[in-house]
Amino acid sequence: MEKSVCMLLFLTVAVNCASINMKEDVALINADASPQQQNKTQFQYKYPITNDEILQQDKSFWLNAGQNILKRVLQSEEESQRYKIAKNVIIFVGDGMGISTITAARIYKGQQKFGTSGEEYDLTFDKFPNSALVKTYNVDMQVPDSAGTATALFTGVKTRYEAVGLDVNCNRTIVDKDVYERSKVDSIMVWAQNANKDTDIARQLVEDTPGKKFKVILGGGQQHLGHTMDYTDYCTRQDGLNLTNTWTESHAGSNYILATNNEQLNMVNDETEYLLGPTGTPSLTDMTRKALHILKKGENGFVLMVEGGLIDRAHHKNYARLAMEETAEFDKAISLAINETGPETLIIVTADHSHTFTMEGYSKRGNDILGFTEKAGEPERPFLTLAYANGPGFNYHYTPTNTSNATFPWRDSSIDENRLNDPYYQHIGAFNTKDETHGGEDVAVFAKGPNSNLIRGVIEQNYIALLISYSGCFGPQADLNPACHKVAPSGTSTSLVNISGIILLPLLINFI
Ligand SMILES: *[C@@H]1O[C@H](CO)[C@@H](O)[C@H](O)[C@H]1NC(C)=O
Ligand SMILES: *[C@@H]1O[C@H](CO)[C@@H](O)[C@H](O)[C@H]1NC(C)=O
Ligand SMILES: *[C@@H]1O[C@H](CO)[C@@H](O)[C@H](O)[C@H]1NC(C)=O
Ligand SMILES: *[C@@H]1O[C@H](CO)[C@@H](O)[C@H](O)[C@H]1NC(C)=O
Ligand SMILES: *[C@@H]1O[C@H](CO)[C@@H](O)[C@H](O)[C@H]1NC(C)=O
Ligand SMILES: *[C@@H]1O[C@H](CO)[C@@H](O)[C@H](O)[C@H]1NC(C)=O
Ligand SMILES: *[C@@H]1O[C@H](CO)[C@@H](O)[C@H](O)[C@H]1NC(C)=O
Repeated sequence: MEKSVCMLLFLTVAVNCASINMKEDVALINADASPQQQNKTQFQYKYPITNDEILQQDKSFWLNAGQNILKRVLQSEEESQRYKIAKNVIIFVGDGMGISTITAARIYKGQQKFGTSGEEYDLTFDKFPNSALVKTYNVDMQVPDSAGTATALFTGVKTRYEAVGLDVNCNRTIVDKDVYERSKVDSIMVWAQNANKDTDIARQLVEDTPGKKFKVILGGGQQHLGHTMDYTDYCTRQDGLNLTNTWTESHAGSNYILATNNEQLNMVNDETEYLLGPTGTPSLTDMTRKALHILKKGENGFVLMVEGGLIDRAHHKNYARLAMEETAEFDKAISLAINETGPETLIIVTADHSHTFTMEGYSKRGNDILGFTEKAGEPERPFLTLAYANGPGFNYHYTPTNTSNATFPWRDSSIDENRLNDPYYQHIGAFNTKDETHGGEDVAVFAKGPNSNLIRGVIEQNYIALLISYSGCFGPQADLNPACHKVAPSGTSTSLVNISGIILLPLLINFI
Protein backbone atom coordinates (compact mmCIF):
# COMPACT_ATOMS: atom_id res chain seq x y z
CA MET A 1 0.00 0.00 0.00
CA GLU A 2 1.28 3.40 -0.96
CA LYS A 3 1.89 5.67 1.96
CA SER A 4 3.03 9.25 2.09
CA VAL A 5 3.13 11.76 4.88
CA CYS A 6 0.18 13.54 3.42
CA MET A 7 -2.00 10.55 2.90
CA LEU A 8 -3.34 10.24 6.38
CA LEU A 9 -5.50 7.20 6.34
CA PHE A 10 -8.34 5.33 4.81
CA LEU A 11 -11.73 5.10 6.37
CA THR A 12 -12.80 1.58 5.76
CA VAL A 13 -11.51 -1.69 4.47
CA ALA A 14 -13.62 -1.18 1.41
CA VAL A 15 -11.89 2.05 0.60
CA ASN A 16 -8.54 0.69 1.53
CA CYS A 17 -8.45 -2.53 -0.40
CA ALA A 18 -11.12 -2.23 -3.01
CA SER A 19 -10.68 1.25 -4.35
CA ILE A 20 -9.60 1.55 -7.91
CA ASN A 21 -7.57 4.35 -9.27
CA MET A 22 -9.26 5.81 -12.27
CA LYS A 23 -7.44 8.91 -13.32
CA GLU A 24 -9.45 9.83 -16.35
CA ASP A 25 -9.37 13.18 -17.94
CA VAL A 26 -12.59 15.09 -18.13
CA ALA A 27 -14.05 16.27 -21.41
CA LEU A 28 -14.69 19.96 -21.73
CA ILE A 29 -17.80 20.50 -23.78
CA ASN A 30 -19.02 23.93 -24.65
CA ALA A 31 -22.77 23.55 -24.86
CA ASP A 32 -23.34 26.95 -26.43
CA ALA A 33 -20.98 26.38 -29.33
CA SER A 34 -22.15 25.67 -32.88
CA PRO A 35 -22.02 22.01 -34.01
CA GLN A 36 -18.77 22.72 -35.89
CA GLN A 37 -17.19 24.38 -32.87
CA GLN A 38 -18.45 21.62 -30.64
CA ASN A 39 -16.79 19.10 -32.88
CA LYS A 40 -13.53 20.99 -32.48
CA THR A 41 -13.60 21.28 -28.70
CA GLN A 42 -15.34 18.06 -27.86
CA PHE A 43 -12.27 15.91 -27.74
CA GLN A 44 -9.83 18.39 -26.31
CA TYR A 45 -9.50 16.71 -22.95
CA LYS A 46 -8.03 18.66 -20.08
CA TYR A 47 -8.41 19.04 -16.38
CA PRO A 48 -10.97 21.79 -15.99
CA ILE A 49 -9.58 22.82 -12.61
CA THR A 50 -5.92 23.58 -11.98
CA ASN A 51 -3.94 22.87 -8.85
CA ASP A 52 -3.76 26.61 -8.18
CA GLU A 53 -7.53 26.83 -8.28
CA ILE A 54 -7.83 23.80 -6.04
CA LEU A 55 -5.49 25.41 -3.54
CA GLN A 56 -7.91 28.34 -3.20
CA GLN A 57 -10.47 25.98 -1.72
CA ASP A 58 -8.76 25.33 1.58
CA LYS A 59 -10.25 24.92 5.03
CA SER A 60 -11.14 28.57 5.51
CA PHE A 61 -12.87 28.61 2.12
CA TRP A 62 -15.12 25.66 3.02
CA LEU A 63 -15.81 26.68 6.61
CA ASN A 64 -16.83 30.05 5.26
CA ALA A 65 -18.91 28.56 2.45
CA GLY A 66 -20.67 26.23 4.88
CA GLN A 67 -21.37 29.06 7.28
CA ASN A 68 -22.88 31.06 4.43
CA ILE A 69 -25.29 28.21 3.69
CA LEU A 70 -26.19 28.13 7.38
CA LYS A 71 -26.81 31.88 7.51
CA ARG A 72 -28.92 31.71 4.36
CA VAL A 73 -31.04 28.87 5.72
CA LEU A 74 -31.39 30.59 9.11
CA GLN A 75 -32.56 33.79 7.50
CA SER A 76 -35.39 32.02 5.76
CA GLU A 77 -36.66 30.53 9.04
CA GLU A 78 -39.09 32.02 11.52
CA GLU A 79 -37.26 33.44 14.54
CA SER A 80 -38.71 30.71 16.75
CA GLN A 81 -37.34 27.99 14.45
CA ARG A 82 -33.76 29.19 14.34
CA TYR A 83 -32.12 28.65 17.68
CA LYS A 84 -32.55 25.19 19.04
CA ILE A 85 -30.11 22.88 20.76
CA ALA A 86 -29.64 19.19 20.22
CA LYS A 87 -28.52 17.50 23.41
CA ASN A 88 -27.60 14.39 21.46
CA VAL A 89 -26.64 13.94 17.83
CA ILE A 90 -26.69 10.63 15.97
CA ILE A 91 -25.43 10.59 12.41
CA PHE A 92 -26.11 7.51 10.32
CA VAL A 93 -23.99 7.20 7.20
CA GLY A 94 -25.12 4.59 4.69
CA ASP A 95 -21.85 4.07 2.85
CA GLY A 96 -22.65 4.28 -0.85
CA MET A 97 -26.40 4.53 -0.18
CA GLY A 98 -27.40 6.54 -3.24
CA ILE A 99 -30.99 7.48 -3.98
CA SER A 100 -31.57 4.50 -6.30
CA THR A 101 -30.36 2.26 -3.46
CA ILE A 102 -32.94 3.84 -1.15
CA THR A 103 -35.76 3.34 -3.66
CA ALA A 104 -34.85 -0.27 -4.39
CA ALA A 105 -34.27 -1.10 -0.70
CA ARG A 106 -37.64 0.39 0.21
CA ILE A 107 -39.32 -1.95 -2.28
CA TYR A 108 -37.12 -4.86 -1.18
CA LYS A 109 -37.96 -4.37 2.49
CA GLY A 110 -41.68 -3.95 1.82
CA GLN A 111 -41.72 -7.12 -0.26
CA GLN A 112 -39.40 -9.33 1.76
CA LYS A 113 -40.25 -8.32 5.32
CA PHE A 114 -43.89 -7.30 5.02
CA GLY A 115 -45.15 -9.16 1.96
CA THR A 116 -46.51 -6.00 0.34
CA SER A 117 -46.02 -4.85 -3.23
CA GLY A 118 -43.26 -2.65 -1.85
CA GLU A 119 -43.35 0.66 -3.70
CA GLU A 120 -45.68 2.25 -1.13
CA TYR A 121 -43.65 1.03 1.87
CA ASP A 122 -41.75 3.66 3.88
CA LEU A 123 -38.32 3.10 5.30
CA THR A 124 -37.85 4.55 8.78
CA PHE A 125 -36.08 7.61 7.44
CA ASP A 126 -38.58 8.08 4.60
CA LYS A 127 -40.85 9.40 7.36
CA PHE A 128 -38.39 11.99 8.65
CA PRO A 129 -39.83 15.51 8.44
CA ASN A 130 -36.88 17.11 6.64
CA SER A 131 -34.61 16.23 3.77
CA ALA A 132 -32.20 17.77 1.28
CA LEU A 133 -30.03 16.85 -1.66
CA VAL A 134 -26.28 16.79 -1.06
CA LYS A 135 -23.50 17.59 -3.52
CA THR A 136 -20.75 15.05 -2.94
CA TYR A 137 -17.93 16.01 -5.30
CA ASN A 138 -14.36 16.22 -3.99
CA VAL A 139 -12.51 19.48 -4.58
CA ASP A 140 -10.56 17.79 -7.39
CA MET A 141 -13.01 15.09 -8.55
CA GLN A 142 -16.48 14.93 -10.07
CA VAL A 143 -17.09 11.47 -8.67
CA PRO A 144 -15.85 11.31 -5.09
CA ASP A 145 -14.27 8.68 -2.88
CA SER A 146 -15.15 7.85 0.72
CA ALA A 147 -12.11 9.57 2.18
CA GLY A 148 -12.79 13.05 0.83
CA THR A 149 -16.53 12.78 1.50
CA ALA A 150 -15.98 11.61 5.09
CA THR A 151 -13.75 14.63 5.61
CA ALA A 152 -16.52 16.90 4.32
CA LEU A 153 -19.18 15.22 6.47
CA PHE A 154 -17.17 15.16 9.67
CA THR A 155 -14.92 18.22 9.52
CA GLY A 156 -16.92 20.73 7.50
CA VAL A 157 -14.09 20.95 4.96
CA LYS A 158 -14.23 19.49 1.46
CA THR A 159 -10.93 18.18 0.25
CA ARG A 160 -9.11 16.11 -2.34
CA TYR A 161 -9.81 12.58 -3.41
CA GLU A 162 -8.13 10.14 -0.99
CA ALA A 163 -7.51 12.75 1.71
CA VAL A 164 -8.85 12.22 5.21
CA GLY A 165 -8.68 14.93 7.87
CA LEU A 166 -6.56 17.19 5.66
CA ASP A 167 -7.47 20.11 3.45
CA VAL A 168 -6.34 20.69 -0.15
CA ASN A 169 -2.89 21.92 0.82
CA CYS A 170 -1.81 18.34 1.21
CA ASN A 171 -1.53 16.10 -1.82
CA ARG A 172 0.13 12.80 -2.56
CA THR A 173 3.23 14.36 -4.03
CA ILE A 174 4.00 16.66 -1.13
CA VAL A 175 5.93 15.05 1.67
CA ASP A 176 6.37 18.08 3.86
CA LYS A 177 5.67 18.00 7.55
CA ASP A 178 4.84 21.71 7.77
CA VAL A 179 2.30 21.50 4.96
CA TYR A 180 0.86 18.42 6.57
CA GLU A 181 0.46 20.14 9.93
CA ARG A 182 -1.05 23.22 8.33
CA SER A 183 -3.59 21.28 6.37
CA LYS A 184 -4.92 19.18 9.27
CA VAL A 185 -8.55 19.83 10.07
CA ASP A 186 -10.45 19.05 13.27
CA SER A 187 -13.31 16.65 12.92
CA ILE A 188 -16.52 16.65 14.87
CA MET A 189 -14.95 13.69 16.61
CA VAL A 190 -11.72 15.66 17.03
CA TRP A 191 -9.77 12.70 15.72
CA ALA A 192 -7.08 14.70 14.06
CA GLN A 193 -6.11 16.61 17.20
CA ASN A 194 -2.97 14.76 18.05
CA ALA A 195 -0.21 16.84 16.54
CA ASN A 196 2.98 15.14 15.57
CA LYS A 197 1.90 11.75 14.38
CA ASP A 198 1.20 10.32 11.01
CA THR A 199 -1.28 7.80 12.32
CA ASP A 200 -4.14 5.80 10.99
CA ILE A 201 -7.67 5.87 12.16
CA ALA A 202 -7.67 2.72 14.22
CA ARG A 203 -4.52 3.81 15.96
CA GLN A 204 -5.84 7.28 16.66
CA LEU A 205 -8.98 5.78 18.07
CA VAL A 206 -7.11 3.68 20.54
CA GLU A 207 -4.02 5.63 21.48
CA ASP A 208 -4.82 9.29 21.08
CA THR A 209 -7.29 11.73 22.50
CA PRO A 210 -10.20 11.80 21.85
CA GLY A 211 -10.24 8.22 20.59
CA LYS A 212 -8.93 6.98 23.90
CA LYS A 213 -11.89 8.65 25.57
CA PHE A 214 -14.53 7.19 23.28
CA LYS A 215 -16.83 5.18 25.42
CA VAL A 216 -17.90 2.93 22.61
CA ILE A 217 -15.96 1.73 19.58
CA LEU A 218 -17.70 -1.01 17.67
CA GLY A 219 -17.34 -2.45 14.24
CA GLY A 220 -15.30 -4.43 11.84
CA GLY A 221 -11.77 -3.73 10.77
CA GLN A 222 -10.09 -6.03 13.28
CA GLN A 223 -7.09 -6.10 11.01
CA HIS A 224 -6.59 -2.37 11.58
CA LEU A 225 -6.34 -3.06 15.27
CA GLY A 226 -3.64 -5.65 14.65
CA HIS A 227 -5.63 -8.86 14.50
CA THR A 228 -4.70 -11.75 12.27
CA MET A 229 -7.64 -12.66 10.07
CA ASP A 230 -8.56 -16.11 8.82
CA TYR A 231 -8.62 -14.94 5.23
CA THR A 232 -5.80 -13.50 3.15
CA ASP A 233 -7.30 -10.63 1.15
CA TYR A 234 -6.89 -7.89 3.74
CA CYS A 235 -4.50 -5.06 4.55
CA THR A 236 -2.22 -5.70 7.46
CA ARG A 237 -0.73 -3.11 9.79
CA GLN A 238 2.78 -2.25 8.66
CA ASP A 239 3.86 -1.34 12.19
CA GLY A 240 2.85 -4.72 13.66
CA LEU A 241 1.10 -3.08 16.62
CA ASN A 242 -1.67 -4.85 18.48
CA LEU A 243 -4.01 -1.99 19.31
CA THR A 244 -6.56 -4.21 21.00
CA ASN A 245 -3.89 -4.84 23.61
CA THR A 246 -3.15 -1.13 23.85
CA TRP A 247 -6.80 -0.39 24.43
CA THR A 248 -7.31 -2.99 27.13
CA GLU A 249 -4.15 -1.86 28.91
CA SER A 250 -5.19 1.80 28.87
CA HIS A 251 -8.60 0.95 30.30
CA ALA A 252 -7.29 -1.37 33.01
CA GLY A 253 -9.00 -0.49 36.28
CA SER A 254 -12.22 0.68 34.67
CA ASN A 255 -15.22 -1.42 33.85
CA TYR A 256 -14.61 -2.31 30.22
CA ILE A 257 -15.71 -5.03 27.85
CA LEU A 258 -13.76 -6.23 24.85
CA ALA A 259 -16.41 -7.90 22.75
CA THR A 260 -15.33 -10.08 19.88
CA ASN A 261 -18.57 -12.05 19.64
CA ASN A 262 -22.27 -11.75 20.39
CA GLU A 263 -22.01 -13.40 23.80
CA GLN A 264 -19.48 -10.86 24.97
CA LEU A 265 -21.52 -8.01 23.52
CA ASN A 266 -24.51 -9.25 25.49
CA MET A 267 -22.50 -8.92 28.69
CA VAL A 268 -22.74 -5.13 28.37
CA ASN A 269 -24.77 -3.90 31.34
CA ASP A 270 -25.39 -0.81 33.45
CA GLU A 271 -21.93 -1.07 34.99
CA THR A 272 -20.09 -1.08 31.67
CA GLU A 273 -18.15 2.13 31.11
CA TYR A 274 -16.13 1.35 27.99
CA LEU A 275 -16.75 -1.01 25.10
CA LEU A 276 -14.44 -2.05 22.28
CA GLY A 277 -15.91 -4.48 19.79
CA PRO A 278 -13.61 -4.95 16.83
CA THR A 279 -15.79 -7.66 15.52
CA GLY A 280 -18.18 -8.33 12.73
CA THR A 281 -20.52 -10.82 14.31
CA PRO A 282 -23.24 -8.58 15.79
CA SER A 283 -25.71 -6.83 13.55
CA LEU A 284 -25.65 -3.07 13.18
CA THR A 285 -28.86 -2.89 15.21
CA ASP A 286 -27.33 -4.86 18.09
CA MET A 287 -24.27 -2.63 18.05
CA THR A 288 -26.41 0.50 18.03
CA ARG A 289 -28.46 -0.83 20.94
CA LYS A 290 -25.36 -1.54 23.02
CA ALA A 291 -23.77 1.78 22.14
CA LEU A 292 -26.87 3.71 23.20
CA HIS A 293 -27.13 1.66 26.36
CA ILE A 294 -23.80 3.08 27.47
CA LEU A 295 -24.02 6.56 25.95
CA LYS A 296 -27.46 7.38 27.31
CA LYS A 297 -26.14 7.15 30.86
CA GLY A 298 -24.19 10.40 30.48
CA GLU A 299 -25.94 13.56 31.64
CA ASN A 300 -24.35 15.86 29.12
CA GLY A 301 -25.47 14.23 25.92
CA PHE A 302 -23.56 12.35 23.27
CA VAL A 303 -22.59 12.23 19.61
CA LEU A 304 -22.79 8.86 17.90
CA MET A 305 -21.78 8.00 14.37
CA VAL A 306 -23.12 4.77 12.88
CA GLU A 307 -21.89 3.66 9.52
CA GLY A 308 -23.59 1.04 7.37
CA GLY A 309 -20.35 0.11 5.67
CA LEU A 310 -21.42 -3.03 3.88
CA ILE A 311 -23.82 -1.35 1.47
CA ASP A 312 -20.77 0.05 -0.28
CA ARG A 313 -18.79 -3.17 -0.20
CA ALA A 314 -21.70 -5.09 -1.70
CA HIS A 315 -22.20 -2.56 -4.50
CA HIS A 316 -18.50 -2.61 -5.38
CA LYS A 317 -18.92 -6.30 -6.26
CA ASN A 318 -22.36 -5.87 -7.93
CA TYR A 319 -23.99 -7.89 -5.14
CA ALA A 320 -27.34 -6.09 -5.45
CA ARG A 321 -29.26 -8.34 -3.07
CA LEU A 322 -26.59 -7.96 -0.37
CA ALA A 323 -26.71 -4.18 -0.75
CA MET A 324 -30.50 -4.30 -0.32
CA GLU A 325 -30.26 -6.47 2.79
CA GLU A 326 -27.63 -4.19 4.30
CA THR A 327 -29.74 -1.13 3.65
CA ALA A 328 -32.69 -2.85 5.33
CA GLU A 329 -30.50 -3.62 8.35
CA PHE A 330 -29.23 -0.05 8.40
CA ASP A 331 -32.86 1.13 8.43
CA LYS A 332 -33.60 -1.15 11.36
CA ALA A 333 -30.73 0.37 13.35
CA ILE A 334 -32.24 3.82 12.69
CA SER A 335 -35.63 2.62 13.93
CA LEU A 336 -33.96 1.31 17.06
CA ALA A 337 -32.18 4.61 17.65
CA ILE A 338 -35.46 6.53 17.37
CA ASN A 339 -37.13 4.19 19.84
CA GLU A 340 -34.23 4.55 22.28
CA THR A 341 -33.93 8.35 22.23
CA GLY A 342 -36.21 11.32 22.79
CA PRO A 343 -37.02 14.67 21.19
CA GLU A 344 -33.72 16.20 22.36
CA THR A 345 -31.82 14.06 19.85
CA LEU A 346 -30.98 15.26 16.35
CA ILE A 347 -30.90 12.25 14.02
CA ILE A 348 -29.33 12.66 10.60
CA VAL A 349 -29.32 9.95 7.93
CA THR A 350 -27.22 10.37 4.81
CA ALA A 351 -24.75 8.72 2.46
CA ASP A 352 -21.18 9.66 1.71
CA HIS A 353 -21.59 9.06 -2.03
CA SER A 354 -23.62 7.10 -4.55
CA HIS A 355 -22.94 4.11 -6.83
CA THR A 356 -23.59 3.34 -10.49
CA PHE A 357 -26.64 1.35 -9.42
CA THR A 358 -29.95 1.72 -11.24
CA MET A 359 -33.50 0.38 -11.54
CA GLU A 360 -34.47 -0.23 -15.13
CA GLY A 361 -37.18 -1.60 -17.41
CA TYR A 362 -40.92 -1.21 -17.11
CA SER A 363 -41.83 -3.69 -14.43
CA LYS A 364 -45.38 -3.89 -13.17
CA ARG A 365 -46.21 -2.58 -9.72
CA GLY A 366 -45.25 -5.19 -7.11
CA ASN A 367 -42.84 -7.04 -9.40
CA ASP A 368 -40.09 -8.79 -7.39
CA ILE A 369 -37.39 -6.12 -7.12
CA LEU A 370 -34.75 -8.86 -7.37
CA GLY A 371 -36.46 -10.32 -10.42
CA PHE A 372 -36.96 -9.71 -14.13
CA THR A 373 -38.59 -6.84 -15.92
CA GLU A 374 -40.98 -7.37 -18.79
CA LYS A 375 -39.32 -8.74 -21.86
CA ALA A 376 -37.62 -6.01 -23.79
CA GLY A 377 -34.60 -5.35 -25.93
CA GLU A 378 -33.50 -6.92 -29.17
CA PRO A 379 -33.80 -9.89 -29.10
CA GLU A 380 -36.62 -9.84 -26.54
CA ARG A 381 -35.36 -11.35 -23.33
CA PRO A 382 -36.21 -11.00 -19.68
CA PHE A 383 -33.61 -8.92 -17.87
CA LEU A 384 -33.08 -7.98 -14.26
CA THR A 385 -34.52 -4.76 -12.81
CA LEU A 386 -31.37 -4.03 -10.81
CA ALA A 387 -28.21 -3.27 -12.75
CA TYR A 388 -24.96 -1.35 -12.63
CA ALA A 389 -23.22 0.84 -15.15
CA ASN A 390 -19.98 -1.00 -14.44
CA GLY A 391 -18.35 -3.66 -12.29
CA PRO A 392 -17.18 -7.30 -12.13
CA GLY A 393 -20.71 -8.54 -12.87
CA PHE A 394 -19.82 -7.82 -16.48
CA ASN A 395 -17.71 -10.97 -16.66
CA TYR A 396 -20.48 -13.12 -15.31
CA HIS A 397 -23.03 -11.90 -17.82
CA TYR A 398 -20.87 -11.48 -20.91
CA THR A 399 -20.57 -14.95 -22.45
CA PRO A 400 -18.95 -14.66 -25.87
CA THR A 401 -17.77 -18.26 -25.66
CA ASN A 402 -21.35 -19.46 -25.53
CA THR A 403 -21.26 -20.20 -29.21
CA SER A 404 -24.86 -21.37 -29.37
CA ASN A 405 -25.76 -17.76 -30.28
CA ALA A 406 -22.67 -15.82 -31.25
CA THR A 407 -24.73 -12.79 -32.24
CA PHE A 408 -26.00 -12.39 -28.68
CA PRO A 409 -23.03 -12.96 -26.37
CA TRP A 410 -24.92 -12.35 -23.13
CA ARG A 411 -25.88 -14.79 -20.45
CA ASP A 412 -29.54 -15.73 -20.42
CA SER A 413 -30.12 -14.56 -16.84
CA SER A 414 -33.50 -16.25 -16.66
CA ILE A 415 -31.60 -19.50 -16.07
CA ASP A 416 -30.45 -17.92 -12.78
CA GLU A 417 -33.95 -17.57 -11.40
CA ASN A 418 -33.29 -19.75 -8.38
CA ARG A 419 -30.12 -17.82 -7.55
CA LEU A 420 -31.76 -14.42 -7.19
CA ASN A 421 -32.03 -14.70 -3.42
CA ASP A 422 -28.35 -15.52 -3.14
CA PRO A 423 -26.63 -12.48 -1.54
CA TYR A 424 -23.57 -13.10 -3.68
CA TYR A 425 -25.39 -13.21 -7.02
CA GLN A 426 -23.78 -10.64 -9.29
CA HIS A 427 -26.00 -8.31 -11.24
CA ILE A 428 -24.83 -7.03 -14.58
CA GLY A 429 -22.21 -4.31 -14.90
CA ALA A 430 -22.40 -2.82 -18.38
CA PHE A 431 -18.69 -2.02 -18.46
CA ASN A 432 -15.96 -4.28 -17.18
CA THR A 433 -14.18 -3.01 -14.06
CA LYS A 434 -12.60 -5.04 -11.25
CA ASP A 435 -14.62 -3.06 -8.73
CA GLU A 436 -17.79 -1.20 -9.49
CA THR A 437 -17.15 2.54 -9.11
CA HIS A 438 -18.89 5.19 -7.07
CA GLY A 439 -21.54 7.39 -8.65
CA GLY A 440 -21.27 11.15 -8.76
CA GLU A 441 -24.89 12.30 -8.49
CA ASP A 442 -26.32 13.92 -5.37
CA VAL A 443 -27.18 11.83 -2.35
CA ALA A 444 -30.01 12.56 0.07
CA VAL A 445 -29.92 13.62 3.71
CA PHE A 446 -32.86 13.10 6.06
CA ALA A 447 -33.20 14.71 9.48
CA LYS A 448 -35.39 14.61 12.54
CA GLY A 449 -35.14 16.42 15.87
CA PRO A 450 -33.87 19.84 16.99
CA ASN A 451 -32.73 22.00 14.04
CA SER A 452 -33.59 19.33 11.48
CA ASN A 453 -35.59 22.11 9.81
CA LEU A 454 -32.21 23.57 8.80
CA ILE A 455 -31.66 20.59 6.49
CA ARG A 456 -33.33 21.47 3.21
CA GLY A 457 -32.74 22.48 -0.38
CA VAL A 458 -29.58 21.49 -2.19
CA ILE A 459 -26.53 21.69 0.05
CA GLU A 460 -22.81 21.08 -0.06
CA GLN A 461 -21.81 18.02 1.92
CA ASN A 462 -19.60 19.93 4.36
CA TYR A 463 -22.65 21.87 5.58
CA ILE A 464 -23.77 18.78 7.53
CA ALA A 465 -20.76 18.97 9.88
CA LEU A 466 -21.39 22.66 10.46
CA LEU A 467 -25.07 22.09 11.15
CA ILE A 468 -24.09 19.48 13.76
CA SER A 469 -21.67 22.00 15.27
CA TYR A 470 -24.38 24.67 15.38
CA SER A 471 -27.00 22.34 16.84
CA GLY A 472 -24.80 20.50 19.33
CA CYS A 473 -23.12 23.71 20.56
CA PHE A 474 -19.59 22.54 19.91
CA GLY A 475 -17.08 23.44 17.26
CA PRO A 476 -16.83 26.42 14.94
CA GLN A 477 -20.53 27.26 14.50
CA ALA A 478 -21.58 27.16 18.15
CA ASP A 479 -21.01 30.92 18.45
CA LEU A 480 -23.62 31.51 15.79
CA ASN A 481 -26.31 29.85 17.92
CA PRO A 482 -27.42 32.23 20.71
CA ALA A 483 -29.11 29.34 22.50
CA CYS A 484 -25.70 27.79 23.15
CA HIS A 485 -24.63 30.79 25.20
CA LYS A 486 -27.74 30.59 27.34
CA VAL A 487 -26.89 27.07 28.39
CA ALA A 488 -23.13 27.27 28.73
CA PRO A 489 -21.84 29.00 31.86
CA SER A 490 -20.51 32.33 30.63
CA GLY A 491 -16.83 32.50 29.91
CA THR A 492 -16.43 28.77 29.36
CA SER A 493 -16.08 27.00 26.10
CA THR A 494 -19.29 26.23 24.27
CA SER A 495 -18.61 22.51 24.24
CA LEU A 496 -21.70 21.05 25.85
CA VAL A 497 -21.35 17.60 24.53
CA ASN A 498 -18.54 15.12 24.77
CA ILE A 499 -18.03 13.09 21.66
CA SER A 500 -18.59 9.63 22.82
CA GLY A 501 -19.27 6.90 20.38
CA ILE A 502 -18.66 5.54 16.96
CA ILE A 503 -19.73 2.46 15.12
CA LEU A 504 -17.87 1.56 11.98
CA LEU A 505 -18.21 -1.02 9.30
CA PRO A 506 -19.65 -4.26 10.55
CA LEU A 507 -17.70 -6.88 8.66
CA LEU A 508 -20.38 -9.51 8.56
CA ILE A 509 -24.07 -9.33 8.91
CA ASN A 510 -26.59 -11.66 10.38
CA PHE A 511 -27.92 -12.95 7.14
CA ILE A 512 -31.35 -14.52 7.40
C1 LIG B 1 -17.59 16.02 -36.60
O1 LIG B 1 -16.49 15.14 -36.77
C2 LIG B 1 -16.81 13.89 -37.34
C3 LIG B 1 -15.58 12.98 -37.32
O2 LIG B 1 -14.45 13.69 -37.76
C4 LIG B 1 -17.38 14.10 -38.76
O3 LIG B 1 -17.74 12.86 -39.33
C5 LIG B 1 -18.60 15.00 -38.66
O4 LIG B 1 -19.08 15.29 -39.95
C6 LIG B 1 -18.27 16.32 -37.94
N1 LIG B 1 -19.48 17.07 -37.69
C7 LIG B 1 -19.56 18.39 -37.89
C8 LIG B 1 -20.87 19.03 -37.57
O5 LIG B 1 -18.63 19.04 -38.24
C1 LIG C 1 0.95 19.00 -5.01
O1 LIG C 1 1.24 20.29 -4.55
C2 LIG C 1 2.42 20.85 -5.09
C3 LIG C 1 2.63 22.20 -4.41
O2 LIG C 1 1.46 22.96 -4.44
C4 LIG C 1 2.28 20.99 -6.59
O3 LIG C 1 3.50 21.47 -7.14
C5 LIG C 1 1.97 19.62 -7.19
O4 LIG C 1 1.70 19.74 -8.56
C6 LIG C 1 0.76 19.02 -6.50
N1 LIG C 1 0.51 17.67 -6.98
C7 LIG C 1 -0.69 17.26 -7.39
C8 LIG C 1 -0.78 15.84 -7.84
O5 LIG C 1 -1.66 18.00 -7.39
C1 LIG D 1 -4.03 -8.78 20.17
O1 LIG D 1 -4.49 -8.61 21.49
C2 LIG D 1 -5.72 -9.26 21.78
C3 LIG D 1 -6.18 -8.82 23.17
O2 LIG D 1 -5.14 -8.81 24.08
C4 LIG D 1 -5.53 -10.77 21.65
O3 LIG D 1 -6.76 -11.43 21.90
C5 LIG D 1 -5.09 -11.06 20.22
O4 LIG D 1 -4.83 -12.43 20.08
C6 LIG D 1 -3.87 -10.26 19.86
N1 LIG D 1 -3.62 -10.44 18.44
C7 LIG D 1 -2.43 -10.78 17.93
C8 LIG D 1 -2.32 -10.91 16.45
O5 LIG D 1 -1.46 -10.92 18.66
C1 LIG E 1 -39.46 0.78 17.20
O1 LIG E 1 -40.78 0.96 17.66
C2 LIG E 1 -41.78 0.71 16.67
C3 LIG E 1 -43.13 1.09 17.28
O2 LIG E 1 -43.32 0.50 18.51
C4 LIG E 1 -41.73 -0.75 16.27
O3 LIG E 1 -42.69 -1.02 15.27
C5 LIG E 1 -40.34 -1.04 15.73
O4 LIG E 1 -40.22 -2.42 15.42
C6 LIG E 1 -39.27 -0.66 16.74
N1 LIG E 1 -37.95 -0.81 16.11
C7 LIG E 1 -37.03 -1.68 16.53
C8 LIG E 1 -35.77 -1.79 15.74
O5 LIG E 1 -37.18 -2.38 17.50
C1 LIG F 1 -29.56 -15.12 -31.61
O1 LIG F 1 -29.62 -13.73 -31.40
C2 LIG F 1 -30.24 -13.03 -32.46
C3 LIG F 1 -30.17 -11.53 -32.14
O2 LIG F 1 -28.88 -11.13 -31.92
C4 LIG F 1 -31.67 -13.50 -32.62
O3 LIG F 1 -32.25 -12.82 -33.72
C5 LIG F 1 -31.72 -14.97 -32.80
O4 LIG F 1 -33.06 -15.42 -32.77
C6 LIG F 1 -30.94 -15.71 -31.71
N1 LIG F 1 -30.89 -17.12 -32.01
C7 LIG F 1 -31.14 -18.05 -31.09
C8 LIG F 1 -30.99 -19.46 -31.51
O5 LIG F 1 -31.46 -17.80 -29.92
C1 LIG G 1 -25.96 -20.35 -23.97
O1 LIG G 1 -26.90 -20.28 -25.04
C2 LIG G 1 -27.96 -21.21 -24.99
C3 LIG G 1 -28.80 -21.05 -26.23
O2 LIG G 1 -29.24 -19.74 -26.39
C4 LIG G 1 -28.77 -21.03 -23.72
O3 LIG G 1 -29.77 -22.02 -23.62
C5 LIG G 1 -27.86 -21.09 -22.53
O4 LIG G 1 -28.59 -20.75 -21.37
C6 LIG G 1 -26.71 -20.11 -22.67
N1 LIG G 1 -25.79 -20.22 -21.55
C7 LIG G 1 -25.48 -19.19 -20.77
C8 LIG G 1 -24.51 -19.46 -19.69
O5 LIG G 1 -25.97 -18.06 -20.93
C1 LIG H 1 -15.99 16.12 28.78
O1 LIG H 1 -14.95 15.26 29.16
C2 LIG H 1 -13.97 15.88 29.94
C3 LIG H 1 -12.84 14.86 30.14
O2 LIG H 1 -13.37 13.59 30.43
C4 LIG H 1 -14.60 16.34 31.27
O3 LIG H 1 -13.62 16.98 32.05
C5 LIG H 1 -15.71 17.32 30.94
O4 LIG H 1 -16.38 17.69 32.13
C6 LIG H 1 -16.71 16.69 29.99
N1 LIG H 1 -17.63 17.71 29.56
C7 LIG H 1 -18.92 17.47 29.47
C8 LIG H 1 -19.74 18.62 29.03
O5 LIG H 1 -19.40 16.38 29.72
